[in-house]
Amino acid sequence: MPKVLLADPDPRTQESLRAVLTERGFLLDAASDVQEALQPIADGDVDLVVCDLALPGGGGLQLLQAIHDLHPQTAVVLLSAFGSVQDAVQAMRHGAADFLGKPFSADQILVAIDRALEKVALRRENVALKEALDDRVRLDNVIGTGPRMQAIFKTVRAVADTRTTVLITGESGTGKTLLARALHSLSTRKNGPFVEVNCGALPESLLESELFGHVKGAFTGAVRDKIGKFEAASGGTIFLDEIGTSSPAFQIKLLRVLQDRVIERVGDTRTIPVDVRVALATNKDLQKAVEDGDFREDLYYRIHVVAVEMPPLRDRRGDIQELAGHFLQRFAHDHGRAVAEITDAAMAALVAAPWPGNVRQLENVIERAVVLSRSRRIELADLPAGLTTGAAPPAAAVAAPTADDGPILPLKKALELPEKLHIERALAHCDGNRERTAKLLDINRSTLFQKLRKYGIR
Ligand SMILES: Nc1ncnc2c1ncn2[C@@H]1O[C@H](COP(=O)(O)OP(=O)(O)O)[C@@H](O)[C@H]1O
Ligand SMILES: [Mg+2]
Repeated sequence: MPKVLLADPDPRTQESLRAVLTERGFLLDAASDVQEALQPIADGDVDLVVCDLALPGGGGLQLLQAIHDLHPQTAVVLLSAFGSVQDAVQAMRHGAADFLGKPFSADQILVAIDRALEKVALRRENVALKEALDDRVRLDNVIGTGPRMQAIFKTVRAVADTRTTVLITGESGTGKTLLARALHSLSTRKNGPFVEVNCGALPESLLESELFGHVKGAFTGAVRDKIGKFEAASGGTIFLDEIGTSSPAFQIKLLRVLQDRVIERVGDTRTIPVDVRVALATNKDLQKAVEDGDFREDLYYRIHVVAVEMPPLRDRRGDIQELAGHFLQRFAHDHGRAVAEITDAAMAALVAAPWPGNVRQLENVIERAVVLSRSRRIELADLPAGLTTGAAPPAAAVAAPTADDGPILPLKKALELPEKLHIERALAHCDGNRERTAKLLDINRSTLFQKLRKYGIR
């Protein structure tokens, strides 16, 4: 039976409501001020609140607001001794399910309560439906409605709870990193660390000590013992990105870890067992690298246990609408813009575009459009000019936000997006190699890392 909370200080109202409602079999609770009413609501066991507008301790509207924040699925029926039209309008505007002027008949209150409870039930059903739908179109944060992504989700779900090594291949921007994170957060290791290492970014000399740690005095500059990423990832997942560009020496060491599950710190002979799940990614064709002699065959077979190939976005256009909607919501929220939809013409252009930069490019295009848009809708004109022709998209995207259309933002703010896009373009150009990217951009590495962090570029 639904539980109803009576929040009315007037003993006569309490009494009469109690009689009507218990007769109908409702469970009842009572409160005589806002504070007292909030407790059972916060506990989450109230379905409906009948509340006087003049409730002591802040008033009915304040309680309504608090309920909205704490437990939006609880319905509220407001009562008022001075049932004025303004009060009613205000109550409904604040999200009350109904409003009754005192005095009211038993029938009136019962009808109001039934209707309010119906609304609650409907709302719950909608949430449940939406969640079920969400499960079908996404895996953790990875969105994909089409058969190719669904097959990937199935594989990831099947192996998430094992310690099997997973290799993720695919072009840059197809969601390899995101999928590795999903693999981690769906596993029993989810409360353990997720440690990411970009193997292409570090020079050979640093990579080894970065991954395996070192002891004091192992080399010049090793002033104290340092644990490596493998040890740091203990109990969790280590994600080795850009594995395709790693050196032969590194490949041998990695093979050893995967075979024996032990590491040695640089400069130390002790072996340390490590309990980690290993996920790896590359945008290179590893099989070809093996044929060319650039990648060890034995390592290839060792990591090719469960392999997932992320399809390029142009091969799964059916996902574009869902992805665009998802990014629209996120960036509208992040940038505080009320952009709520994408026009049919703009969506058609998005679906048709060649997407050489894959989902990352789509994400950038939507962010830029949200920032540029002057209405509630993203129009064709808000998309970069070269989008459909495939003309170097990031370049076009960089030029536009400072062009003479769009709202005038503070200078610093206006230059953020082009900077982010420019850095991403440089990174892609250097196959994700931070060292070379910093050189290409003529900034030092720490500045680059700082900016990568600022813009959440991984
Ligand atoms: N299927 C997806 N659903 C939602 N966002 C995605 C999806 N694929 C990629 N993204 C987003 O696109 C960007 C690039 O993804 P990322 O995992 O870094 O690609 P990769 O590692 O393959 O270069 C990220 O911001 C990521 O959140
Ligand atoms: Mg990545």
